[in-house]
Amino acid sequence: SHPLTFLGIESSCDDTAAAVVRAVGDRAEILSSVVEGQTTLHAAFGGVVPEIAARAHAERLDLCVERALSDAGLRLAELDGIAVTAGPGLIGGVLSGVMLAKGLATGSGLPLVGVNHLAGHALTPRLTDALAFPYLMLLVSGGHCQFLIARGADDFSRLGGSIDDAPGEAFDKTAKLLGLPQPGGPAVETEAAKGDPRRFAFPRPMLDRPGCDMSFSGLKTALLRARDAVVAEKAGITLQDRADLCAGFQAAVVDVLAEKTRRALALYLAGTPPAPALAVAGGVAANGPVREALMRVAAVAGVRFVAPPLRLCTDNAAMIAWAGIERFRTGARDGMDLQARPRWPL
Ligand code: KG4
Ligand code: ZN
Repeated sequence: SHPLTFLGIESSCDDTAAAVVRAVGDRAEILSSVVEGQTTLHAAFGGVVPEIAARAHAERLDLCVERALSDAGLRLAELDGIAVTAGPGLIGGVLSGVMLAKGLATGSGLPLVGVNHLAGHALTPRLTDALAFPYLMLLVSGGHCQFLIARGADDFSRLGGSIDDAPGEAFDKTAKLLGLPQPGGPAVETEAAKGDPRRFAFPRPMLDRPGCDMSFSGLKTALLRARDAVVAEKAGITLQDRADLCAGFQAAVVDVLAEKTRRALALYLAGTPPAPALAVAGGVAANGPVREALMRVAAVAGVRFVAPPLRLCTDNAAMIAWAGIERFRTGARDGMDLQARPRWPL
């Protein structure tokens, strides 16, 4: 089919990103992808500060777009459309992106397509692996945790998800409580590899309840209690204590994700998909033991496992450009009335 080249713009959380993606049929090529993280800006505050995020997006977004275009060796007029994250996310950042995209679309006459950030993540396996609908998607990051059946560019059913913290958030809080650097996931994973997961008893929240919903906030409480017990007993915490705490925490996250994925797969497979597949996205999918556990669950169920490369699993604009192309192909167009939406369930 006719090749389509889209600019993608992403500014819904703490990454400012722009990318150019070209699609021909079910094959796609990322011509450029610029991602500017804000980790250092927020480091001193122990979390993303919305005002700081909004200002950084406003200051950096047009430069990221310019660089994405020059890296791709294209002028705006040579593209076929502009895709922008219109939510969900921090409203200041989403507004920056939507306003910039509207300005670029007006100036160039190119079509504008608003993209749901979660749909961007959920469609990424089709960008990298030409995966056929319907597939099961586990989205696990610092801000999201849900099971989706992806049936089409605009057609997702949610099977369940975390009722409180996302797992990445739990990793980050664990790191903070143990004096490890942010983002906490990689640091906790490294410590956990040196620890004994059985020394401390961590709960497996909600495994006794039916369905695919999960809870991770209790793990943080359990960790705090175990840490304080160690500190009270020995008036301090050793490196081995810390490694054992990380190992216990991570093993609980892995067990919960694996068991809930088994259940989500059973629900998905009941619909007899012709080419069944389990795909993952989000920063937590970078975790070795999480990935291995999910791979095993998929293998036992006889289902293909697809994990896009990490730089596409975490927030980026190539996934937004791609989701824009997918929506455009279904006839979706947005006008100057496109709204920035802080909440926008799939
Ligand atoms: O997808 P992402 O970049 O951003 C959103 O949250 O949307 O995910 C970032 C999250 C952080 O919470 C980070 O700690 C977690 O993913 N993460 C990990 C690992 N690498 C990143 N969690 C566990 N193990 C890892 N290796
Ligand atoms: Zn995200």
